[in-house]
Amino acid sequence: MKNSSNNRQILPVNRTKEQARRFYDRMSRLYDYISGPFERKYAFRALELLDIMEGETILEIGFGTGHCLKKIAASVGETGKAYGIDISPGMLRVTKRRLEKAKLLDRVELNCGDATSLPYDTNSMDGVFVAFTLELFDTPEIPIVLEEVKRILKPGGRIAVAAMSKKAGESLIVRLYERVHNRWPEYADCRPIFLEESIHEAGYQIKSSQTVKLLGLPLEIVVALNN
Ligand SMILES: C[S@@+](CC[C@H](N)C(=O)[O-])C[C@H]1O[C@@H](n2cnc3c(N)ncnc32)[C@H](O)[C@@H]1O
Repeated sequence: MKNSSNNRQILPVNRTKEQARRFYDRMSRLYDYISGPFERKYAFRALELLDIMEGETILEIGFGTGHCLKKIAASVGETGKAYGIDISPGMLRVTKRRLEKAKLLDRVELNCGDATSLPYDTNSMDGVFVAFTLELFDTPEIPIVLEEVKRILKPGGRIAVAAMSKKAGESLIVRLYERVHNRWPEYADCRPIFLEESIHEAGYQIKSSQTVKLLGLPLEIVVALNN
Protein backbone atom coordinates (compact mmCIF):
# COMPACT_ATOMS: atom_id res chain seq x y z
CA MET A 1 0.00 0.00 0.00
CA LYS A 2 1.37 3.41 -0.96
CA ASN A 3 1.66 5.93 1.83
CA SER A 4 1.47 9.60 0.92
CA SER A 5 3.55 12.04 2.93
CA ASN A 6 0.32 14.03 3.28
CA ASN A 7 -1.43 11.18 5.07
CA ARG A 8 -0.17 12.23 8.47
CA GLN A 9 -1.92 15.58 8.06
CA ILE A 10 -5.29 13.90 7.61
CA LEU A 11 -7.19 13.46 10.84
CA PRO A 12 -7.69 9.85 11.92
CA VAL A 13 -11.11 8.22 12.16
CA ASN A 14 -11.65 6.76 15.60
CA ARG A 15 -15.18 5.40 15.47
CA THR A 16 -15.83 1.74 14.76
CA LYS A 17 -17.88 0.50 11.79
CA GLU A 18 -20.60 -0.46 14.22
CA GLN A 19 -20.71 3.12 15.53
CA ALA A 20 -20.84 4.42 11.95
CA ARG A 21 -23.69 2.05 11.13
CA ARG A 22 -25.65 3.06 14.23
CA PHE A 23 -25.06 6.78 13.53
CA TYR A 24 -26.37 6.56 9.95
CA ASP A 25 -29.28 4.36 11.00
CA ARG A 26 -30.31 7.09 13.44
CA MET A 27 -29.74 9.77 10.78
CA SER A 28 -31.57 7.98 7.98
CA ARG A 29 -35.00 9.57 8.56
CA LEU A 30 -33.57 13.08 9.14
CA TYR A 31 -30.67 13.06 6.70
CA ASP A 32 -32.55 14.77 3.87
CA TYR A 33 -33.38 17.71 6.13
CA ILE A 34 -29.93 18.06 7.77
CA SER A 35 -27.14 17.37 5.26
CA GLY A 36 -29.03 16.81 2.03
CA PRO A 37 -29.78 20.36 0.92
CA PHE A 38 -26.12 21.45 1.27
CA GLU A 39 -24.32 18.51 -0.26
CA ARG A 40 -26.77 17.28 -2.86
CA LYS A 41 -26.05 19.99 -5.44
CA TYR A 42 -22.38 18.95 -5.51
CA ALA A 43 -23.16 15.24 -5.47
CA PHE A 44 -25.38 15.80 -8.55
CA ARG A 45 -22.58 17.79 -10.21
CA ALA A 46 -20.11 14.95 -9.65
CA LEU A 47 -22.65 12.44 -10.90
CA GLU A 48 -23.15 14.38 -14.14
CA LEU A 49 -19.39 14.16 -14.72
CA LEU A 50 -19.61 10.36 -14.60
CA ASP A 51 -21.58 10.73 -17.85
CA ILE A 52 -23.59 7.53 -17.50
CA MET A 53 -24.94 5.93 -20.68
CA GLU A 54 -27.91 3.64 -21.18
CA GLY A 55 -27.03 -0.03 -20.77
CA GLU A 56 -24.16 0.59 -18.36
CA THR A 57 -23.50 -1.07 -15.02
CA ILE A 58 -22.89 1.50 -12.27
CA LEU A 59 -22.22 1.18 -8.53
CA GLU A 60 -22.76 3.87 -5.90
CA ILE A 61 -20.83 3.50 -2.62
CA GLY A 62 -22.50 5.13 0.41
CA PHE A 63 -25.79 5.94 -1.33
CA GLY A 64 -27.39 7.50 1.77
CA THR A 65 -31.06 8.32 1.14
CA GLY A 66 -30.77 7.39 -2.54
CA HIS A 67 -31.17 10.65 -4.49
CA CYS A 68 -28.15 9.93 -6.69
CA LEU A 69 -28.90 6.23 -6.97
CA LYS A 70 -32.35 7.13 -8.33
CA LYS A 71 -30.70 9.26 -11.03
CA ILE A 72 -28.21 6.47 -11.75
CA ALA A 73 -31.07 3.95 -12.16
CA ALA A 74 -32.84 6.32 -14.55
CA SER A 75 -29.64 6.89 -16.58
CA VAL A 76 -28.71 3.21 -17.05
CA GLY A 77 -32.20 2.58 -18.45
CA GLU A 78 -33.98 -0.75 -18.77
CA THR A 79 -30.95 -2.42 -20.34
CA GLY A 80 -28.47 -1.33 -17.65
CA LYS A 81 -28.07 -2.13 -13.98
CA ALA A 82 -27.42 0.02 -10.91
CA TYR A 83 -25.88 -1.25 -7.69
CA GLY A 84 -25.62 0.43 -4.32
CA ILE A 85 -23.74 -0.48 -1.17
CA ASP A 86 -24.15 1.27 2.18
CA ILE A 87 -23.22 0.27 5.71
CA SER A 88 -26.57 1.41 7.15
CA PRO A 89 -29.71 -0.75 6.93
CA GLY A 90 -31.71 2.41 7.80
CA MET A 91 -30.36 4.22 4.73
CA LEU A 92 -31.09 1.13 2.65
CA ARG A 93 -34.74 1.13 3.76
CA VAL A 94 -35.17 4.84 2.89
CA THR A 95 -33.51 4.34 -0.51
CA LYS A 96 -35.56 1.24 -1.29
CA ARG A 97 -38.77 3.20 -0.67
CA ARG A 98 -37.54 6.03 -2.91
CA LEU A 99 -36.73 3.60 -5.74
CA GLU A 100 -40.02 1.74 -5.33
CA LYS A 101 -41.94 5.01 -5.54
CA ALA A 102 -40.05 5.92 -8.72
CA LYS A 103 -40.70 2.41 -10.14
CA LEU A 104 -36.97 1.90 -10.59
CA LEU A 105 -36.26 -0.78 -7.98
CA ASP A 106 -36.25 -3.60 -10.55
CA ARG A 107 -33.03 -2.29 -12.11
CA VAL A 108 -31.19 -1.72 -8.81
CA GLU A 109 -29.48 -4.16 -6.44
CA LEU A 110 -29.00 -2.79 -2.93
CA ASN A 111 -26.42 -4.23 -0.54
CA CYS A 112 -25.69 -3.52 3.08
CA GLY A 113 -21.97 -3.67 3.92
CA ASP A 114 -18.59 -2.03 4.39
CA ALA A 115 -17.07 -0.80 1.14
CA THR A 116 -13.55 -1.94 2.10
CA SER A 117 -14.73 -5.30 0.73
CA LEU A 118 -17.06 -5.06 -2.26
CA PRO A 119 -19.35 -8.02 -3.03
CA TYR A 120 -19.07 -7.58 -6.82
CA ASP A 121 -17.21 -9.47 -9.54
CA THR A 122 -13.84 -8.35 -10.88
CA ASN A 123 -14.15 -6.25 -14.10
CA SER A 124 -17.92 -5.98 -13.72
CA MET A 125 -18.67 -2.22 -13.50
CA ASP A 126 -18.53 0.55 -16.12
CA GLY A 127 -18.52 3.22 -13.43
CA VAL A 128 -18.43 3.83 -9.68
CA PHE A 129 -19.80 6.89 -7.91
CA VAL A 130 -18.91 8.04 -4.37
CA ALA A 131 -20.22 11.27 -2.78
CA PHE A 132 -19.28 12.44 0.71
CA THR A 133 -18.35 8.93 1.81
CA LEU A 134 -14.65 8.30 0.96
CA GLU A 135 -13.66 10.84 3.64
CA LEU A 136 -15.42 8.69 6.28
CA PHE A 137 -12.87 5.90 5.91
CA ASP A 138 -9.79 5.97 8.11
CA THR A 139 -6.66 7.04 6.23
CA PRO A 140 -5.19 3.51 5.75
CA GLU A 141 -8.58 2.35 4.42
CA ILE A 142 -8.86 4.93 1.63
CA PRO A 143 -6.35 3.12 -0.66
CA ILE A 144 -8.07 -0.19 0.20
CA VAL A 145 -11.45 1.14 -0.98
CA LEU A 146 -9.88 2.61 -4.13
CA GLU A 147 -8.11 -0.71 -4.81
CA GLU A 148 -11.41 -2.59 -4.42
CA VAL A 149 -13.07 -0.15 -6.84
CA LYS A 150 -10.21 -0.73 -9.31
CA ARG A 151 -10.75 -4.48 -9.07
CA ILE A 152 -14.47 -4.32 -9.91
CA LEU A 153 -14.13 -1.66 -12.64
CA LYS A 154 -13.76 -2.85 -16.21
CA PRO A 155 -10.56 -1.72 -17.95
CA GLY A 156 -11.22 1.89 -18.98
CA GLY A 157 -14.05 2.12 -16.43
CA ARG A 158 -14.42 5.37 -14.53
CA ILE A 159 -14.85 6.65 -11.00
CA ALA A 160 -16.35 9.98 -9.92
CA VAL A 161 -15.85 11.13 -6.33
CA ALA A 162 -16.90 14.21 -4.36
CA ALA A 163 -15.22 14.72 -0.98
CA MET A 164 -14.22 17.38 1.52
CA SER A 165 -10.73 18.49 0.60
CA LYS A 166 -7.47 19.47 2.25
CA LYS A 167 -5.89 20.30 -1.07
CA ALA A 168 -6.13 24.07 -0.55
CA GLY A 169 -3.95 23.67 2.55
CA GLU A 170 -4.45 24.78 6.12
CA SER A 171 -7.00 27.56 5.61
CA LEU A 172 -8.68 29.02 8.70
CA ILE A 173 -12.05 27.48 7.83
CA VAL A 174 -10.50 24.02 7.37
CA ARG A 175 -8.70 24.34 10.71
CA LEU A 176 -11.93 25.44 12.40
CA TYR A 177 -13.86 22.59 10.84
CA GLU A 178 -11.20 20.10 11.95
CA ARG A 179 -11.53 21.39 15.52
CA VAL A 180 -15.26 20.80 15.36
CA HIS A 181 -14.62 17.32 13.90
CA ASN A 182 -12.13 16.56 16.71
CA ARG A 183 -14.57 17.74 19.37
CA TRP A 184 -17.76 16.15 17.96
CA PRO A 185 -16.63 13.46 15.49
CA GLU A 186 -19.95 11.68 15.87
CA TYR A 187 -21.74 14.68 14.30
CA ALA A 188 -19.19 16.37 11.99
CA ASP A 189 -17.97 12.98 10.81
CA CYS A 190 -16.59 13.81 7.35
CA ARG A 191 -13.05 15.19 7.48
CA PRO A 192 -10.99 16.77 4.67
CA ILE A 193 -8.76 14.43 2.65
CA PHE A 194 -6.38 14.73 -0.33
CA LEU A 195 -8.78 13.32 -2.90
CA GLU A 196 -7.04 13.76 -6.27
CA GLU A 197 -3.73 12.67 -4.78
CA SER A 198 -5.27 9.53 -3.23
CA ILE A 199 -6.92 8.57 -6.52
CA HIS A 200 -3.73 9.21 -8.48
CA GLU A 201 -1.67 7.18 -5.99
CA ALA A 202 -4.13 4.29 -6.32
CA GLY A 203 -3.08 4.07 -9.99
CA TYR A 204 -5.97 5.76 -11.77
CA GLN A 205 -5.60 8.24 -14.61
CA ILE A 206 -7.09 11.58 -13.55
CA LYS A 207 -9.57 12.82 -16.18
CA SER A 208 -10.80 15.95 -14.44
CA SER A 209 -10.43 17.58 -11.06
CA GLN A 210 -12.10 20.68 -9.64
CA THR A 211 -12.25 22.34 -6.26
CA VAL A 212 -15.46 24.09 -5.19
CA LYS A 213 -16.68 25.55 -1.90
CA LEU A 214 -19.50 24.26 0.30
CA LEU A 215 -20.33 26.79 3.03
CA GLY A 216 -16.75 28.02 2.60
CA LEU A 217 -15.24 24.55 2.95
CA PRO A 218 -13.28 23.19 -0.03
CA LEU A 219 -14.62 20.14 -1.84
CA GLU A 220 -12.84 18.20 -4.56
CA ILE A 221 -14.73 16.59 -7.41
CA VAL A 222 -12.51 14.14 -9.28
CA VAL A 223 -13.21 11.88 -12.25
CA ALA A 224 -10.62 9.23 -13.10
CA LEU A 225 -10.15 6.22 -15.36
CA ASN A 226 -9.10 2.70 -14.50
CA ASN A 227 -6.07 2.18 -16.72
C1 LIG B 1 -22.27 11.51 4.47
S1 LIG B 1 -23.36 10.25 3.91
C2 LIG B 1 -23.45 10.59 2.17
C3 LIG B 1 -24.66 9.99 1.52
C4 LIG B 1 -24.84 10.28 0.03
N1 LIG B 1 -23.72 9.80 -0.76
C5 LIG B 1 -25.04 11.75 -0.20
O1 LIG B 1 -24.20 12.39 -0.87
O2 LIG B 1 -26.06 12.29 0.26
C6 LIG B 1 -22.30 8.83 3.96
C7 LIG B 1 -22.99 7.53 3.61
O3 LIG B 1 -21.98 6.50 3.59
C8 LIG B 1 -22.42 5.38 4.33
N2 LIG B 1 -21.22 4.72 4.88
C9 LIG B 1 -20.48 5.10 5.95
N3 LIG B 1 -19.45 4.26 6.14
C10 LIG B 1 -19.56 3.31 5.17
C11 LIG B 1 -18.79 2.15 4.85
N4 LIG B 1 -17.74 1.79 5.59
N5 LIG B 1 -19.18 1.40 3.78
C12 LIG B 1 -20.28 1.75 3.06
N6 LIG B 1 -21.04 2.83 3.31
C13 LIG B 1 -20.68 3.61 4.36
C14 LIG B 1 -23.35 5.95 5.39
O4 LIG B 1 -24.26 5.00 5.89
C15 LIG B 1 -24.03 7.08 4.63
O5 LIG B 1 -25.19 6.64 3.98
